[in-house]
Amino acid sequence: MSEDALFAEVLDPANRADPYPIYARLRRMPVSRQRDGAYVVSTHAAIRSLLFDPRLSSEDLPPSRRPRTGNPLTDWILNPIKNRVANAHRPLIFRDPPAHDTLRGFVMNEFTITRVNGLHGRVGALVDTLIERCRGRDTVCLVDDLSYPLPVAVICELLGVPEADEPQFHAWATQLATALEPDARRDDEARRVTVTTFDAIAAYMRRLIREKRRHPADDMLSGLARPSRAGATAMGDVDLIATAVLLLVAGHETTVNLITNGMLTLLRHPHELDRLKADPERAPRLIEEVLRYEPPVHFRTRKALGAIDIAGTTIPKGAPVILLFASGNRDPERFADPDRFDPDRADNQHFGFGGGLHYCVGAPLARIEAEIALVTLCRRLVRPTLLDDPPPYRAGASLRGPSNLGIRIAGIA
Ligand code: HEM
Repeated sequence: MSEDALFAEVLDPANRADPYPIYARLRRMPVSRQRDGAYVVSTHAAIRSLLFDPRLSSEDLPPSRRPRTGNPLTDWILNPIKNRVANAHRPLIFRDPPAHDTLRGFVMNEFTITRVNGLHGRVGALVDTLIERCRGRDTVCLVDDLSYPLPVAVICELLGVPEADEPQFHAWATQLATALEPDARRDDEARRVTVTTFDAIAAYMRRLIREKRRHPADDMLSGLARPSRAGATAMGDVDLIATAVLLLVAGHETTVNLITNGMLTLLRHPHELDRLKADPERAPRLIEEVLRYEPPVHFRTRKALGAIDIAGTTIPKGAPVILLFASGNRDPERFADPDRFDPDRADNQHFGFGGGLHYCVGAPLARIEAEIALVTLCRRLVRPTLLDDPPPYRAGASLRGPSNLGIRIAGIA
């Protein structure tokens, strides 16, 4: 297989269970041009340098286009306005400075340590309830039984979405997560479904924000929707909706994959599972190693704003650039014995949460959820073993994780 077709191999579902040998081949050329004109960046040093390079833009999303309806008023007036508004108010993950920094500042003001730590008890109670529901069974389907329902419940709690609306949120989050995959970005039908889903969730959010303004509560959406204080500009409604949708999507499937990848890795390394069970204090370092070894986000795309010379290659202006985080995490130039799962690893500077300007705002929350879930699973599942190895995987190559993880158990403690 030629070097300029390697990224197509990464996207091929047949390689989803183990893309790491392809990453190793890609790393022979730290920045490699693919047949479709995209540049894949695969070494730790090159990814790190580009994460901090202002010549790379995150505004790489194709423009919003709504499908024709046959109604002239909708097709010629309403939808073009909606498209213009959507393009001008993209969520902050698809924005560059200065707009990115302003929007991120609003979110960081509300994503306080107190608010995140305040979710500790709720996450613990949710995990226990979900595990308790498995009592009497001899198998657990980890994704359906725990990894999937937990993060959506936590985000709804954080944002202040009523519990009754959670199932609806669940469906929206799943649909929008697929929109991030490279194949979905190129496919017109997939983009049409994304726009329709976004319109539905935006209409819901508009109503909820109005409600929060009338009856503010102690949740993040109420905080973001609060009228401006002197000297501060309040976030406009369209940006507020885009931000709320981003928090839902960015915090959902990623956390599902962290919990599932974490448990899969522990079941493949039973000695580490026993050590975690005996000493839950090991959890933080273990989770950092899962984020390096089996990260939930394998890559993100950018666009070159100008020509960039890096590692012997010139990326031309306008070219799509793929930052292959999961490959940087396995780079032998940066990590000793990178294909070994070693929670005792010192100096674990992985790209599990990205890096630079767009470093994940939800990292502290994701860490809490994964810690509580993995420690409780190890403590309460009696003699867990994997049913299928490798498990079946979801279609996504970027947000990568098992579609389900069957675990045989001898009971619930
Ligand atoms: C294990 C779980 C998670 C993982 C692996 C993860 C991973 C990432 C990564 C790799 C990025 C960088 C994207 C880029 O460079 O383009 C990112 C950004 C982001 N994440 Fe997370 N994330 C997780 C959980 C969460 C949660 C729980 C939330 C919020 C509830 C969240 C909200 C965000 C937001 C808003 C951004 C965009 C930040 C910006 O553009 O400045 N994430 N995340």
